[in-house]
Amino acid sequence: MKFFIDTANLDQIKEANDLGILDGVTTNPSLMAREGIKGEKGFIDHYIKICNIVDGDVSAEVIATDYQGMIKEGEALAALHPNIVVKVPAIKNGIKAVKYFSDNNIRSNCTLIFSPGQALLAAKAGATYVSPFVGRLDDISSDGVELVAQIVDIFDTYGYESQVIAASIRHTMHIIQCMDAGAHVATCPLNAILGLLKHPLTDIGVEKFLADHRKLNK
Ligand code: G3P
Repeated sequence: MKFFIDTANLDQIKEANDLGILDGVTTNPSLMAREGIKGEKGFIDHYIKICNIVDGDVSAEVIATDYQGMIKEGEALAALHPNIVVKVPAIKNGIKAVKYFSDNNIRSNCTLIFSPGQALLAAKAGATYVSPFVGRLDDISSDGVELVAQIVDIFDTYGYESQVIAASIRHTMHIIQCMDAGAHVATCPLNAILGLLKHPLTDIGVEKFLADHRKLNK
């Protein structure tokens, strides 16, 4: 299972990358806005900074919702760095754009997936990644993890090569459950990744080892 970090915050990206376990980054317009990034140059500079930190796929989302606009933005984003993956929403023009990108050797991440049907269309169009949003489904009393499992199952059954990114991950149990469901990637906030390390028995164990060592090595 690959780990992406779901943020545009450079410090958090560096911290996750320094752990040595980071495979990539996903961003979206809300995450870019949270960092105060604005203007075309601001976006370009920020994506380049991210690509210079992490040696892995970096999803950069188009803002346009019309087909030609998505193509123009996607081509410009893809030209920024070989690791850029163009992120497009799972709307009608988005699926058409995914097909165009696939035909033109541009990798894509089809986002805002909330149903198996959306994932199927994205995979048929040739998306490199599809991103079901786990937390946002849980927010409305649906089962986000179950959707991830369904999509993985469908892709396995029909041999689609698109990878499933479990997105909108909110906490460590989401990561564990999505791993169990067979997601190829989990894109997570830093605190959910670090949360995987937390165990009181580990902390108690380290403390005891050090105390025993200190007894004989004063
Ligand atoms: O990966 C998608 C993510 O950024 C959305 O997360 O917490 O806003 O649902 P959230």
